[in-house]
Amino acid sequence: MRLPDGYRLVSLHRIDSTNAEALRRAAEGAPHGTVVLAAEQTAGRGRRGRSWLSAPGNLYMTVLVRPPEGCATAQLSFVAAVALGETMDRETDFRFKWPNDLLVGGRKIAGILIEADGDAAAVGIGVNAARTPEGVSDTAADLGGREDAATLCVRICGSFDRWYRRWLAEGFGPVRDAWLARAAGLGEIAAVQTARGTVSGRFDRLTAEGALVLVDPSGGETEIAAGEVFFGRRGCC
Ligand code: BTN
Repeated sequence: MRLPDGYRLVSLHRIDSTNAEALRRAAEGAPHGTVVLAAEQTAGRGRRGRSWLSAPGNLYMTVLVRPPEGCATAQLSFVAAVALGETMDRETDFRFKWPNDLLVGGRKIAGILIEADGDAAAVGIGVNAARTPEGVSDTAADLGGREDAATLCVRICGSFDRWYRRWLAEGFGPVRDAWLARAAGLGEIAAVQTARGTVSGRFDRLTAEGALVLVDPSGGETEIAAGEVFFGRRGCC
């Protein structure tokens, strides 16, 4: 098993954040397909300014991409999610949670963080490959170490490269369809915390841009570009 053509692996023992490292390398001219893999992160970054617990054993990787001008960089999180799902399909009954988590049994097993700088974007992927981080066992799960992080990383790169090329060639449609086919909570009532407050409604679809569409009981639609989704009465997953 090897990385796709044009990809290059930078394997590190410990780093603050693979996303931060990929963006530093991008600023120095690192090419598309540079993959930063770390055994441990000391300042792993999550969405919405959160930290990402990054003890040794799990997978912490970032693919540096340089999409052509005009691409919707935010859609990269769906490209990465679908690639990650394809990598896991053989082993795991997973669901995608908008915008960019993977759940198993309603618990988070992987997260994706896209950070852009100029024409470069860091596609950061964290997978609980070996163990559930301490203190989050009620909301997170793990793959139980069935596969080591480096092997998983190479497989994810292969899938990512295929989906990335398809996205460039065919647009967001196929990515969105693949994502919706395994979406958590599609058709269910969801509450979404946004910067402007919480919006509730039935999770109906994704827009052509990847925004989540909620429909209220009177048929009114709200498109949400960024937020945190909660399903069900307990607000779980
Ligand atoms: C989330 O909040 O769900 C996104 C988590 C993304 C974590 C990964 S681990 C590899 C990469 N480097 C980081 O600092 N974050 C991402």
